[in-house]
Amino acid sequence: MITQKCIDEIKLAARIEEVVGDFVQLKKSGASYKGMCPFHNDHDPSLHVTPRLGIYHCFVCGASGDAIKFLRENQQMSYTEALRYLAEKYHIEVEEEKRELTPEQEAAKSEREALLKVNEYAEKFFIDQLFNTEEGQNIGMTYLRDKRGFRPETIKKFKLGYCPDSWETFSTQATNDGYNPEYLITLGLCRRSEKTGRLFDFYKGRVIFPILNTIGSTIGFGGRVMSSDVKGPKYYNSPENPIYHKSDVLYGFYQAKRAMRTQNNVYLVEGYTDVISMSEAGVENVVASSGTALTEGQIKLVKSQTDNITVLYDGDRAGIKASLRGINMLVAAGLHVKAVLLPDGEDPDSFAKGHRDSELYDYLTQNAVSVIQFKVDVLMQDAGDDPLKRAEAVKDIIATIAEVRDEIERAFYVKECAELLHLSEESVNVSLRQAVWKRINTRPADLPHPEQPQPQTLPNLSPVVEVPHPQSPTVDPIQNVELDVVRLLLKYGMLETNVETEAENGTRKVKSVRIDQYVFNEFSQDEILFENPLYQRFYKEYARLAQEKPTQEELLQAFAHHEDSEIQELAIPILSEEEPPFSEAWLKRFDVDTRKPDTDIENLNQALTGCINLYKLRLIEKQKKLLTKELEEKHTEKEEREIMERLVQLNEMYRKLGELQRAVIVP
Ligand code: UTP
Ligand code: MN
Repeated sequence: MITQKCIDEIKLAARIEEVVGDFVQLKKSGASYKGMCPFHNDHDPSLHVTPRLGIYHCFVCGASGDAIKFLRENQQMSYTEALRYLAEKYHIEVEEEKRELTPEQEAAKSEREALLKVNEYAEKFFIDQLFNTEEGQNIGMTYLRDKRGFRPETIKKFKLGYCPDSWETFSTQATNDGYNPEYLITLGLCRRSEKTGRLFDFYKGRVIFPILNTIGSTIGFGGRVMSSDVKGPKYYNSPENPIYHKSDVLYGFYQAKRAMRTQNNVYLVEGYTDVISMSEAGVENVVASSGTALTEGQIKLVKSQTDNITVLYDGDRAGIKASLRGINMLVAAGLHVKAVLLPDGEDPDSFAKGHRDSELYDYLTQNAVSVIQFKVDVLMQDAGDDPLKRAEAVKDIIATIAEVRDEIERAFYVKECAELLHLSEESVNVSLRQAVWKRINTRPADLPHPEQPQPQTLPNLSPVVEVPHPQSPTVDPIQNVELDVVRLLLKYGMLETNVETEAENGTRKVKSVRIDQYVFNEFSQDEILFENPLYQRFYKEYARLAQEKPTQEELLQAFAHHEDSEIQELAIPILSEEEPPFSEAWLKRFDVDTRKPDTDIENLNQALTGCINLYKLRLIEKQKKLLTKELEEKHTEKEEREIMERLVQLNEMYRKLGELQRAVIVP
């Protein structure tokens, strides 16, 4: 258990734009930041991050929260994991209420946390073996340093290790230290011998490449054989397990994150050694897909850091054609794709080893070509003079252009393609249209664009007009206005406004009151309770917090980080709104002048009285309906008369309020 004091300290230190910025590219926009929302398939930057309040909010899918919530929902961390992550990020020492846990109890906390702990232990063990044992030095280190040419800093950066060449060294030590054999097996670190029932070390005699997730926890391992006479695969890799999903992982991502952002590009290679050698040669924005074409999950990871990807191809042309297939997926994901062909016989690892300092970087930047040019080169050379093959190749290339989502980029490729293939742009465009048509009709459609707000028709002038609320979660007419009251309170509750009051003797005077006070008065006079239970809860909390918090700023902070997550979710979208609530809809609802700033006192006044009157009108309407229905049932004469009288009263109130409202609506 982390102490409350420490939790408060962590929350205070966390800067939302940095926390979100580690996983989403953010661009500054005024006082806030914008980026592609990671919670849905975003086409425009709809995620808004507001540093002032420490919150994020997506205007399309509605995802919202603070730093901790972001880590929980985007990175699947538990609450404690999120706190620990932030503590580490902001160099805060985690204070715990003292409680000694055995490794087993620790493991029982949650399977995921336990599995991560086991991996952490194994990683330390392998590193220790590499650096501090004779065998590790003689075999593992010699290999990494002499054969691979990795410097100690690089070995440390990638947390490389060594597993001794004996069947049980790791298994015995891990179980002696209290680690659960079942977890060791789940993680693929150990296996159980069918003959003896004993555990044995899966990575025996191999150098170890830990695989990290996006926040630097070790979730898997690769192990390379040392002695060439071992049969079977050169590399062993962790099996799929609750913390390791191969298809969502890019090797080297964690180490490459910063460089990916600063360079605004990432190099895609095949395996462990490619990544490490390139990093060693000064190109740090490099990740590996572990063999096959990128998966959707991996593409998402790339897109969280940059829109530019450069795929590296080995210098043997034989393999290239097959590996070209994955490229359309990258293009379709909206990435700007380039490719580099390495010299004959070289792979990224070998080439990087021979080209240190800036040579590798220079080669890559000078030889990167557009995906279209690359395909033209490869496919046309492959087709030779065969006209049928050439036609196939052209189709293939145009199919790639058809995947490009950006119009301008597509037009550029059409031009490039026409030039390279000596075709007219017009004929490329004709084929392109066919290809786009084919793409659209043969593949499940993309996620639909979020619905645009429907164009609103001007309401008639009846006092109760239903204008769809821009973000109303409900269509209930009463709850709709309740939400307006919530918005008014949150955004302007502490501002002063002028209201006209009528004294007992009938004289009218203008008085300055705080908006929230005015709302409280109106509501308590008429004993109004919100119908929506969440809004009611909010209202109560507002009443409490408005007394505790001396400034608007502190009040908003309290809502942005409210412990009742439903209240928090209600508040954040409102707090993140850039445009005033006096949008078109409010113009129609309350005749607020949308051209004036929202803090214009007349505007506020208009919104305030309009809102409250409309609310009361809605409540009366509802009561009228209920009473009318009641009349239909059997009653004594007396009862009937009472109901009728009540109805007459309501009608009178309704008429009066309606006039007021009309006065508001008709200028
Ligand atoms: P290589 O065969 O080039 O591996 O595969 P290497 O370790 O560089 O071996 P040598 O020294 O050239 O002979 C390149 C990448 O493919 C992945 C690894 O990530 C490796 O870095 N790979 C290869 C596997 O995952 N499993 C394998 O069995 C082989
Ligand atoms: Mn190799």
